[in-house]
Amino acid sequence: MSAEQQPGGAAQTPYQTARRYLRQTPRHWLVTGVAGFIGSHLLEHLLALGQRVTGMDNFITGHQHNLDQVREAVGDQAWTRFHFIEADIRDHASCLRACQGVDYVLHQAALGSVARSIDDPRLSHDINVGGFVTMLAAARDAGVRRFVYAASSATYGDHPDLPKVEERIGRPLSPYALSKFANELYAEVFARCYGTEAIGLRYFNVFGPRQDPQGAYAAVIPQWAAALIGNRRLDINGDGETSRDFCFVANAVQANLLAALSSDPAAVNQVYNVALNARTSLNQLYRMMRALLLARFPHLQQHKPHHVGFRSGDVRHSQADIGKAVRLLGFAPTHDLERGLQEAIDWYVGQLPAAGG
Ligand SMILES: NC(=O)c1ccc[n+]([C@@H]2O[C@H](COP(=O)([O-])OP(=O)(O)OC[C@H]3O[C@@H](n4cnc5c(N)ncnc54)[C@H](O)[C@@H]3O)[C@@H](O)[C@H]2O)c1
Repeated sequence: MSAEQQPGGAAQTPYQTARRYLRQTPRHWLVTGVAGFIGSHLLEHLLALGQRVTGMDNFITGHQHNLDQVREAVGDQAWTRFHFIEADIRDHASCLRACQGVDYVLHQAALGSVARSIDDPRLSHDINVGGFVTMLAAARDAGVRRFVYAASSATYGDHPDLPKVEERIGRPLSPYALSKFANELYAEVFARCYGTEAIGLRYFNVFGPRQDPQGAYAAVIPQWAAALIGNRRLDINGDGETSRDFCFVANAVQANLLAALSSDPAAVNQVYNVALNARTSLNQLYRMMRALLLARFPHLQQHKPHHVGFRSGDVRHSQADIGKAVRLLGFAPTHDLERGLQEAIDWYVGQLPAAGG
């Protein structure tokens, strides 16, 4: 979809065009992993755009409170367009049921942590590969138009190039990375064997409201938000010069909608980096988060991070070349790190217990 000229003369971005199209065209979407972090944002955006959504989740890492927050945000009227199925993506009958009458699948359900996959490779494989193929086959059988799925920057593995370009990947560094690469290969093989349409979105460190701060496998931003607000010990893995391309969740939502709706045949059956093409070290991230919280939490004047050992399976540097998504999907991130962090941190301040609280 290309940028359109509005009557007033102002050009619309492809995302604005896509949103306007959806407001006028109700479709039926399946969001798997809907009670998780990214899935719940997809749900919120789709319902706000007047869409009908089926959601599927087994709550292995997702939460009912994420769904409750979406309901509160969109209102009871919009909520009537949502149908929830509590089920496992490894269950073929449930996947088939969930895909009935669906136009687009946004497949987010997976076990999403490198460290967790190193601790339990069989479970990661079972869900991330077995569940993926089960859902992909169900989408094919139900005649879904397009299957958009969460791939991962972990697929770049040990490839040294920066920024990362979709075509050049290295050896996987964890069972999680391997499982996400297997998703891409399965999507490609399904396109070849059955003529299905799929698009993989290689997310790079997505963050934002509702990302879970709890547990051993929590991502860095929610984990640190909880530690800073609660004035607790905060560990930085290694020397802190490890870097990431942190991507606010609204940018990931945009990529999903553009991928689902793209009418460019060259854009289909491809994978895309989803991030900003900006690299931030853990040390820089710590300073930014602390600065954003300092005015509200004077205890942070004295707060200092602890440096601990490097984590196995982690890549050292990560930065996305987003040229392909810009060219073929019209991707134009709306939130840089600063703006995204501000929104995320405001949310965590409202949710998490403060020190002594
Ligand atoms: N958050 C990131 O930075 C990031 C980066 C790269 C890729 N991804 C991928 O994006 C997707 C969403 O990640 P997220 O950060 O929202 O994680 P999340 O853990 O918050 O969400 C995943 C959801 O999937 C559900 N789920 C897991 N296994 C399931 C199963 N067998 N059956 C049904 N539901 C199941 C979980 O309960 C959860 O609600 C995942 O595929 C993840 O691998 C995320």
